[in-house]
Order: sequence, then structure tokens, then C-alpha cells
Amino acid sequence: MQILSVDIERTMDKAIGDCGMTQELMDALAPKLEEARVAVMRAAGSGWLEWTDLPSADPSQFLDYAKEVRPHIDAVVVIGIGGSALGTTALATALLPFYYNERSRQDRGGNPKLYVLDNVDPDETFDLLSRLDLKRTLVNVISKSGTTGESMSSYLVFRQRLEALAGREKLKDLLVFTTDPSEGVLRKLGASLGVRMFDVPAGVGGRFSVLSAVGLLPAALVGMDVEELLRGAQEMESWIASAEGWDNPACLFAGIQYLNDTAFGRGISVMMPYSARLRDVADWFRQLWAESLGKAVNRQGETVNVGPLPVKSLGVTDQHSQLQLYSEGPDDKIITFLGVKEFQNDLTIPAPDAEAAALSYLAGHTIGELMWAEQKGTAWALAERGHPSVTITLDRVDAYHVGALLYMLEMATAISGELYDIDAFNQPGVELSKKATYALMGRPGYEDLAGRIG
Ligand code: PA5
Repeated sequence: MQILSVDIERTMDKAIGDCGMTQELMDALAPKLEEARVAVMRAAGSGWLEWTDLPSADPSQFLDYAKEVRPHIDAVVVIGIGGSALGTTALATALLPFYYNERSRQDRGGNPKLYVLDNVDPDETFDLLSRLDLKRTLVNVISKSGTTGESMSSYLVFRQRLEALAGREKLKDLLVFTTDPSEGVLRKLGASLGVRMFDVPAGVGGRFSVLSAVGLLPAALVGMDVEELLRGAQEMESWIASAEGWDNPACLFAGIQYLNDTAFGRGISVMMPYSARLRDVADWFRQLWAESLGKAVNRQGETVNVGPLPVKSLGVTDQHSQLQLYSEGPDDKIITFLGVKEFQNDLTIPAPDAEAAALSYLAGHTIGELMWAEQKGTAWALAERGHPSVTITLDRVDAYHVGALLYMLEMATAISGELYDIDAFNQPGVELSKKATYALMGRPGYEDLAGRIG
């Protein structure tokens, strides 16, 4: 049985009419799609595709470290941004119980609370600092480059507090760094303070790093099933390695998105989970897709300015916010529904009082059935209006299935990079804004740029 399914039926002309996908278009793309998959498979494990090695890496270093420190800490604070934070948030929302931090230690399975600080809003940082018992808090600073201004600023603020409280000698017990194996300021700092450090392999970029120490260390610290996450990713890896072209889940997702963008002008890709647990997977994917595929030039150096716009949405909540636009607005979107067959818990809707008899159609159904009905009904209603949707279905939201889903989306991103013929692994647009911030914050060497910004 497949670990997840990708259903494109509601993108097809048979389902949505003249503006739907045709078999001819799919057949025409098939050779290029398979070429893209083969190119990714060939490059796997090298250059910026070192993340393809992560599913089969041994996670015992994370599990052992977590076991060692867990008795001494009440909370973990992850300091990171972009790819150094979004994966942890996606995993936490998917795999920890709702309201995790509000539970007692016993109800958290003896595990610490988890906070992810991925912004430099001073109010947020101030309030977080004031909630923590810093002597029993482990601060996991995550930065691949080890230089990102936002993360380094938060680190410096936390470090000053920790040092004032516990002394420089004790910093090594309260900090753990996740960074490049040899480059960057964070690596140097860690060495000078004797802080425990975990590597982000050189060829693993931030947005492809969730299955490295970036995501797995926090996951291990709060007791997520890291082995199952990797097992799901491995299973997906084997499937992707063995299935060709349109029979391959990552190719199917990538190819349909690509054709909707390039052949139908649907440059907006909405990911809409019908599971609150998967809400932040859509947020993680938004960064993966946007930073990887939004590029000015192709691999020949020609200006192309490509990139579908990823949008995150949440079923059913956003049916009452965004659906009107998806349904009646411009035909410039493709929706991806993320559905689950089985929720961890379900609740039966009770019969209403006699005066609310109009609600009796709900009685006896479960809340989970209602979620399913809303997802199916929305896909159908969009199709009636000629709008395409893909449905990815997981049996349930657990570590095994989430590992597979994340890996499939990473692979689909790499394959899409091939289809658009761009470098999916750089982010020159982000680098420019980083430099502008350095200039405005007075970093030596950026004086000219500061002058240009004004
Ligand atoms: O995906 C990426 O490469 C980026 O989003 C980075 O993760 C982000 O800019 C943070 O970089 P770093 O981990 O070097 O601090």
C-alpha cells in the first residue's frame, strides 16, 4: 500500500471542463518530466542535493543528546529563521499534541516545552524571555551560515541573559548550536565557548534541512519519533527512485503544478490542509517553493523571472475567508488539498434541542466526517467552476507519514527546478536584502550600499 496518494483527477478537462488539463499536454511533458527526475536522481547526494542522503542518516546522535540533557531542562528555545525554523514549527504542529506547552510535564511525556523564535520583534523576544526559567532552558541556535543577522541578534540577547545568570563557564550547558561543519561565526563561537555543536551538512541548504540536525535535534528533544520520520522519508525516497514520470508522486505533483503555471497561466499555488496539524506544513512548503523556484535567471543566465506564488490556506477555516476568491476570482490558481483519512481523535456531534431541529442533519456524524465532507465538497465546487485541484491524502498525521510528505515535497521542488531550468538551491534575492540590512545596521564594508539605500 502506498504511503500517501496524489490525486490529480480534478485538474483534468474531464472533471473541470475546457480549461482543464489534457492527456495530450501531459504526454507532451512526459519525456521532460522523466528527464528532470533522472537529473535529480543523478545529482542526489552531491552538491546542493546532499539533503537526499538525510533519510538514511543515523539519528542516534540526536537521540543520545536529547536523553542526556532532558532531565536538566524545562524548555527548548529554537533561535533560527527561514529554513532554520520553519521545519521545526511544521513538525511541532503536526506531531506534538495541540496546546503542548500548556500541558504539565507529565502530560508532555516528561519532555521540555518548545518555543521557536524566528523573528526579531522585540515585544515577542521580551515576552518569551520573561516566561522562561533560563537556568533550565536549552537554547538551540540554528544557522547554516552562522552569520544571519536576525538569528545572531537573538542569540546575543539570550547569551547575555544566560551569562549574567549562570556565568560564562555554564554557557556550554545552556546552549547548543546547529550550523555548518566548518564555516561561519557560530561555529567559531561554539568552539571558543565549548558549546555542543551539530552539523548541517555543507550541501544541505536551509529550506531542505528539516531532516538534518536542524529539524531532528529539536524533534528529539521534545520526544518526537525521529526514527519514524526518517523511515517515512526513506520509503518515499525508494518510491521516487523507482517510479518513472507521471507514475512518480513527486513528478506528478511537480508536473501538474508546472503545466498549470506555464500552459494555463495559473501561477498561484494554494496549499490547503484539511487538518490543523498540517497547517504549518503549508507554511514550510510556502518557503520551500518560493525561495527555490522564484528566480530571475535560468541556468543559461537568461532573464526568465519565473516562479509560482505559493499561498497557504487552511481548511475549513479559510472556506470562510479565501474560498470566495478561489471560486469566483481570476482563474490563476491551482489548489492542493492535504487530507487525512483518520484523525487521532474524533467527536460525535450530538442531537440538537427541538427548537434547533434545523441542525439535526449534523447529529450522529463526527467532526472528522464534517471535515472530510467540507474538503470533498470544496474540491467538487471548485471543479464545477472550472478550477483545478490536486488532493494529497495521508492515512493519518504521524511521524512516518509526515516524513514521507516532507520528502516528497522536497523532491517535487527539485524536479520543478529542472522543469523551469533554474537553480532551485540559491537565493540571490534574499542575499541582497540581507546585505541591505547589514548596510543599515552599520556593518563595516557596506558603507556604499548604505549610501545607495539612503
Ligand atoms: O532556505 C534558506 O536557505 C534560507 O531560508 C535560510 O534558511 C535562512 O535565510 C536562514 O539562514 P541561516 O540558516 O544561514 O541562518
